[in-house]
Amino acid sequence: MWVEKLRWVRVDDPRVRTLPVDAHMRLSLGGHTLRLVRTPAGLFALEDRCPHQGRSFEGGWCEDGCLVCPWHRFAYDPATGRARQGSTANVGTFPVEQRENGLHIGFPYTTFRLFGIDLW
Ligand code: FES
Repeated sequence: MWVEKLRWVRVDDPRVRTLPVDAHMRLSLGGHTLRLVRTPAGLFALEDRCPHQGRSFEGGWCEDGCLVCPWHRFAYDPATGRARQGSTANVGTFPVEQRENGLHIGFPYTTFRLFGIDLW
């Protein structure tokens, strides 16, 4: 049986701890290029790829709890990835968990479970 799972990867970058509210940063982790966004509602992880034309959010800004793409000013809710303004396409998001040993981000993958054992 096919099973959807999350592979949790710990973030070792010290810049995350000091990332201020209404700011964002680029992060490479687990083979993904992410955009971490801190808003008054918390810390969120998104794909660093605007769904409008596939460009990075580098140079963008936070406004009213959204991440605004610098290229054409489309805005996305970092909690859900939903477009708030300018686009109908959404940004991919990843779950974030603060654990005792640090911040972790979950990356979805599919495995095959046979007799209760996940094959990968
Ligand atoms: S590439 Fe982001 S709004 Fe156009």
